Amino acid sequence: MANSMMDQDILKVLYTPEQIRARVQELGDALYEAFQGRNPLFLGVLKGSFIFMADIIRACQVKSDLEFIAVSSYQNGTKSSGVVQILHDLQQDITGREIVVIEDILDSGNTLFFLKNYFMTKGAKSVTIVTLLDKPSRRAKAITADYAGFVVPDEFVVGYGLDYAQQYRNLPYIGVLKPEVYTKRAD
Ligand code: PRP
Repeated sequence: MANSMMDQDILKVLYTPEQIRARVQELGDALYEAFQGRNPLFLGVLKGSFIFMADIIRACQVKSDLEFIAVSSYQNGTKSSGVVQILHDLQQDITGREIVVIEDILDSGNTLFFLKNYFMTKGAKSVTIVTLLDKPSRRAKAITADYAGFVVPDEFVVGYGLDYAQQYRNLPYIGVLKPEVYTKRAD
């Protein structure tokens, strides 16, 4: 694959495509053990989770269905605003369902704290949180992942679905963005 212009904005690669693939399979195996026979609803949090969602559902061959919700709390900045907006709501009744939330990153926790409560008030039987990346050093809300792929340091990570100002989502690896890329613009 040709090197992209985007690579020049990356300080270092944290996880290669091969490392991600191997870890996603381990998570898929653990979810298979936990959810086989329970008909879970995999619920992806857009946009960041779309690549992880596509990979994790294929790594976990349980009878299941899937749904998406789109939320945002960053509004193109690098800090969570704390206010979670639903941009695209659930399109089905989740009453009594075992929800497996698929997230790309658990950072301040604002998003998943809000969503876990939201899904419970909508009648979910259970809410299990699966995040590819966990950044516990920035947690502002009392929320933990049930399954986490990698614990990451407090650096600005992009790729494999994660963005900065909607870009870099299509990088096949997860990398740290050079600080000059996001300090160039006013948040
Ligand atoms: C990102 C990410 C998570 C959330 C995590 O979403 O995809 O949903 O932030 O951060 P938190 O734990 O501090 O709430 P963002 O709002 O940037 O939208 P996106 O998924 O469309 O990139």
